[in-house]
Amino acid sequence: MYSSKSGFTETYAQWIGQELGSDVVKIKQARAKDLRSYDAVIYGGGLYISGIRGVRWLKRHLKGLDGKPVIVFATGASPPRPETIVKVRNKNFNAEQQRNIAFFYLRGGFDFRRLNPVDKGLMTLLKWRLLIKRRPNTDERGMLSAYKRPQNFTKKDSIRPLIRHVRQLRSP
Ligand SMILES: Cc1cc2nc3c(=O)[nH]c(=O)nc-3n(C[C@H](O)[C@H](O)[C@H](O)COP(=O)(O)O)c2cc1C
Repeated sequence: MYSSKSGFTETYAQWIGQELGSDVVKIKQARAKDLRSYDAVIYGGGLYISGIRGVRWLKRHLKGLDGKPVIVFATGASPPRPETIVKVRNKNFNAEQQRNIAFFYLRGGFDFRRLNPVDKGLMTLLKWRLLIKRRPNTDERGMLSAYKRPQNFTKKDSIRPLIRHVRQLRSP
């Protein structure tokens, strides 16, 4: 299951589905009661100001999943630094959820042209903030160049740890 605005999460969701031979469903088409027929639930969403898009829906329905394994992956434009991953995990999951949900960060990308008008506005504000910085750091400089040219960091290899985790659930 996934939610994807500009397609990066969708790419990973399709790769994961192909690799595991599992159904791939957009969150808009998902119904909570249908999830019960699966052995495990994998949810992916893009990062929007460190929040994983759509993950609230999943958290609301966790109780109904009766202890089924739940795996969440987030895609963002940021490099996969351990401190970034910890920040995202802490922002989106409480301590109990962190114990029960396996979390993976997969680097997505950034494509200004594919954003809706609201996101374009938000990202333009961020661009101005970055432009007036005296000494932007490497990530900030990388972000600024992403406005000029779309950046795509999706790599099929990045799904390997998640796939390994799911396979271990199938045959512990
Ligand atoms: C308004 C906005 C906020 C964003 N916030 C973050 C963020 O906090 N961290 C990050 O790594 N990427 C951030 N991004 C980049 C997206 O997470 C990235 O493009 C992601 O791969 C989008 O996935 P999707 O196209 O599947 O929705 C943001 C993008 C937009 C438009």
